[in-house]
Amino acid sequence: MNSNELKLSVDSFLLSETDEKGIIRYANEEFCQFAEYKLEELIGKPHNIVRHADMPKAAFKDLWETVQKGKPWKGFVKNSTKSGKFYWVFATVFPFIACDGSKAYISCRRMASQDEIDKYTAIYKKMK
Ligand SMILES: Cc1cc2nc3c(=O)[nH]c(=O)nc-3n(C[C@H](O)[C@H](O)[C@H](O)COP(=O)(O)O)c2cc1C
Repeated sequence: MNSNELKLSVDSFLLSETDEKGIIRYANEEFCQFAEYKLEELIGKPHNIVRHADMPKAAFKDLWETVQKGKPWKGFVKNSTKSGKFYWVFATVFPFIACDGSKAYISCRRMASQDEIDKYTAIYKKMK
C-alpha cells in the first residue's frame, strides 16, 4: 500500500450532496474526515475540489450524462485529500428532487476492494 493512500473500512459510508451544477450542499462527517476539509470549507464549492489528477475526464462525463437523464450512476473513483493523499471509493450517485423543488444529486461511497482498486487503476491509466 502506498503511504499516501487512505483506506475506507467495511462500514465506511461517505456521503455528499450537490445541486444540479455539482456545487456541494452537504457532506457527512466521514466524507469531511477523508477529504481533510471542514464542512464549512466544502459547502458552496464545486465537487471537483476533491478530484484526483489520475481520474479520466470520460468517467465524469459518463457520471453527468447518466444522472442528468434521471438514472443512478455507479463507478470507482479515486479522490484527492486536501494534503495530497488519496483514497478509492465505490460510488453510487442518485438524482433526486430536493424539498425546495430543485434538482439535486447525492453520492453514497463505500469501500472498494483491493482487486477493484488494482483493476480501475489500470483501466483509468489507459483511458487518459
Ligand atoms: C453528487 C456528486 C458527487 C460527486 N463526487 C465526486 C467525487 O467524489 N470526486 C470527484 O472527483 N468528482 C465528483 N463528482 C463529479 C464532479 O462534479 C466533477 O464532474 C469532477 O470532479 C470532474 O471535474 P472537472 O469537470 O472540473 O474535470 C461528483 C458529482 C456529483 C453530482
